[in-house]
Amino acid sequence: MVLEKRFMNLGLEMCSRRALSVVLALWLSISAAGVGAESLAEDEKALLDFLSAASHSRLLNWSPATRVCDQWIGVNCSTDGSRVVSLHLPGFGFSGPIPPNTLSRLSALQILSLRSNGFFGSFPPDFANLTALTGLHLQFNRFSGPLPFDFSPWKNLNVINLSFNHFNGSIPSSISNLTLLTTLNLSNNSLSGQIPDLELPSLQFINVSNNHLNGTIPKFLQSYPNSSYSGNDFTPIVPLTPSPEPLPPAPSPSPGLVSKKKLSESAILGIIVGGCASLFAVLALFLYLCCSRGDAENYVSGKGSKGGHSPEKAVTRKEDENNRLVFFEGCTFAFDLEDLLRASAEVLGKGTFGTAYKAVLEDATTVVVKRLKDVSVGKRDFEQLMEVVGRIKHENVVELKGYYYSKDEKLMVYDYYSQGSVSSLLHGKRGPDRIPLDWETRLRIALGAARGIACIHNEKNSKLVHGNIKSSNVFLNNQQYGCVSDMGLPSISNPMVPPVSRTAGYRAPEVVDTRKASQASDVYSYGVLLLELLTGKSPIQIVGGTDEVVHLVRWVQSVVREEWTAEVFDVELMRYPNIEEEMVETLQIAMSCVTRTPERRPKMLEVVQMIEGLRRFDSGNQTLTEAPTPIPAHDTQATSTSQ
Ligand SMILES: *[C@@H]1O[C@H](CO)[C@@H](O)[C@H](O)[C@H]1NC(C)=O
Ligand SMILES: *[C@@H]1O[C@H](CO)[C@@H](O)[C@H](O)[C@H]1NC(C)=O
Ligand SMILES: *[C@@H]1O[C@H](CO)[C@@H](O)[C@H](O)[C@H]1NC(C)=O
Ligand SMILES: *[C@@H]1O[C@H](CO)[C@@H](O)[C@H](O)[C@H]1NC(C)=O
Ligand SMILES: *[C@@H]1O[C@H](CO)[C@@H](O)[C@H](O)[C@H]1NC(C)=O
Ligand SMILES: *[C@@H]1O[C@H](CO)[C@@H](O)[C@H](O)[C@H]1NC(C)=O
Ligand SMILES: *[C@@H]1O[C@H](CO)[C@@H](O)[C@H](O)[C@H]1NC(C)=O
Ligand SMILES: *[C@@H]1O[C@H](CO)[C@@H](O)[C@H](O)[C@H]1NC(C)=O
Ligand SMILES: *[C@@H]1O[C@H](CO)[C@@H](O)[C@H](O)[C@H]1NC(C)=O
Ligand SMILES: *[C@@H]1O[C@H](CO)[C@@H](O)[C@H](O)[C@H]1NC(C)=O
Repeated sequence: MVLEKRFMNLGLEMCSRRALSVVLALWLSISAAGVGAESLAEDEKALLDFLSAASHSRLLNWSPATRVCDQWIGVNCSTDGSRVVSLHLPGFGFSGPIPPNTLSRLSALQILSLRSNGFFGSFPPDFANLTALTGLHLQFNRFSGPLPFDFSPWKNLNVINLSFNHFNGSIPSSISNLTLLTTLNLSNNSLSGQIPDLELPSLQFINVSNNHLNGTIPKFLQSYPNSSYSGNDFTPIVPLTPSPEPLPPAPSPSPGLVSKKKLSESAILGIIVGGCASLFAVLALFLYLCCSRGDAENYVSGKGSKGGHSPEKAVTRKEDENNRLVFFEGCTFAFDLEDLLRASAEVLGKGTFGTAYKAVLEDATTVVVKRLKDVSVGKRDFEQLMEVVGRIKHENVVELKGYYYSKDEKLMVYDYYSQGSVSSLLHGKRGPDRIPLDWETRLRIALGAARGIACIHNEKNSKLVHGNIKSSNVFLNNQQYGCVSDMGLPSISNPMVPPVSRTAGYRAPEVVDTRKASQASDVYSYGVLLLELLTGKSPIQIVGGTDEVVHLVRWVQSVVREEWTAEVFDVELMRYPNIEEEMVETLQIAMSCVTRTPERRPKMLEVVQMIEGLRRFDSGNQTLTEAPTPIPAHDTQATSTSQ
């Protein structure tokens, strides 16, 4: 009853979808029109000038007699109809150069797609005036010559697709000015030279395959799939052992450093033991120096004898208590570091705390190896955390199988989950070949993740914090329930203020230092995850055309406040009947988790109970708490689409 009342309060405006679409559209194009001196009439004239000067084979219905915004093929305007904001002319049989001073006058243009035509000539220099562009799609044309030297005019660009042209010359380093760039596709051109050291904070996809590039792939770009780089002359890199310092043995490689360190230790010893024992200390020092010189020699000669491969050998030869893969009790894995280094590795993703690889060993064992960066604690603290994490055995917590610690390399070994993360299930492959994520699965993800987090919060006198809840850290276990991974890492890492990234969208407002995450901030992040499951949207969206960032939480709060509740839900969920009530209930739970005041958020255990309670009204025999028979994704897909 009580729940039903709450449900009513939130509003049953399921029918007002149309009005709501307007709200959505508004949200998506908040920035659409920078209404300036220019007008639609001038945009219209620019388009007509373009059409009359460019030769094309397919007819376009552009005419001064009809309305630009509603009737002209390929043209879309801002919501208030004041400017042309997108132009899509794929495959219209255009050829020749783009007539100068035509399209470049569309100063509010955000998306320009001229793909699959026969345009040739150089990159139009006057495009520098299209400063509002967020997407530039010129693929499958015959443009040639160099890329623009200076990319800084297009600071709003999200997507650049210049693939399949004849551009030559080098990749300009000014691309690193494009801080909002998510996709860069330069494949199948004739670009040469080295890739500049691009550090693009928003970059998700890069493809420079099939060019004539050489040199090494910059560090920042190394975590992208190798098919992004194929068909070039790059110096190869081995994922787990990057140059120039591949996993050196435990003692410091420099003999100078070693002796200095040992000297000070011996010195302290000497002081403690007192004058009469000093002879002993000198002896100890002598021994240390001998040993360390021996190590250094081994290392150097190993390096000299067999090129790139031997530093790994050096590791294994020096393998001892300090430098070994440590597995937890009950773990059946039988491989060592050397096997791991020999395994074929594929980058799964680059996260806040490091890069995850899928490693397939010679005996076909598949594991996930997480290579941590910026670990700020020493070996003992690291091992302590690993022991705590390794002890947690729960069906909704991804089990840590083992770890490795050396001065230069910190690895964590997990089981591999073949279905990928919830993030990729939710946001990957949007488009025609997308497999929808049904409500049943989303609820099981939510419940599983909640139980996993609650279990973590219950460990170690209820003091443990996950610290990094996000959809890319949640996987599906073999019962198809959510399963959380990657706990505890903020506590051993340097504090980070990542640029606008997905992580930022999960961080509770009170968390300024990533190391100071709390159980309450975990609850907040979990709430964002719930909202993500409900809306299908990423926690942070960058609104095209401006630098404006929309936080999912704030957006949902504003929509709910306006009683447009129904509009928040993922359209993909609309095909499933009779789930509105559960969705609204879940939305309520999510909203309570993302309350601003940490004290007012529910505890994780309460969240678990609330989610379990969702199915109390279920008339059928199916309850969420029962383990369902695992349904392969394809079957789910088949049944849902047949509805
Ligand atoms: C242009 O607007 C129409 C109608 O609003 C919409 O259906 C279409 O998807 C839009 N096209 C693009 C490419 O945005
Ligand atoms: C860009 O636009 C300005 C006027 O807004 C014009 O003076 C200039 O020539 C244009 N630049 C190019 C390269 O067309
Ligand atoms: C880039 O262009 C290629 C070729 O048309 C296309 O397959 C790919 O999806 C495009 N990428 C983006 C992000 O538009
Ligand atoms: C690029 O191609 C043009 C011919 O289209 C050629 O004249 C020029 O030298 C090439 N530039 C480079 C850097 O290869
Ligand atoms: C753009 O990048 C170039 C080269 O990397 C740099 O010299 C220039 O200062 C940058 N401009 C802006 C506006 O960031
Ligand atoms: C892309 O480039 C590669 C290598 O140059 C070539 O083999 C391939 O046919 C090209 N693809 C297309 C569709 O032109
Ligand atoms: C780039 O374009 C190629 C060619 O169509 C396509 O296969 C690839 O998926 C695109 N990559 C991205 C990241 O858009
Ligand atoms: C890369 O290719 C360019 C020519 O495109 C050549 O001048 C340069 O020496 C090459 N660099 C390396 C490291 O191979
Ligand atoms: C890059 O593009 C090539 C074709 O040009 C395609 O085969 C490859 O799958 C693409 N890789 C990525 C990561 O998009
Ligand atoms: C990409 O990596 C896989 C292993 O992860 C390997 O089998 C394949 O040969 C690599 N491809 C290239 C072009 O390096």
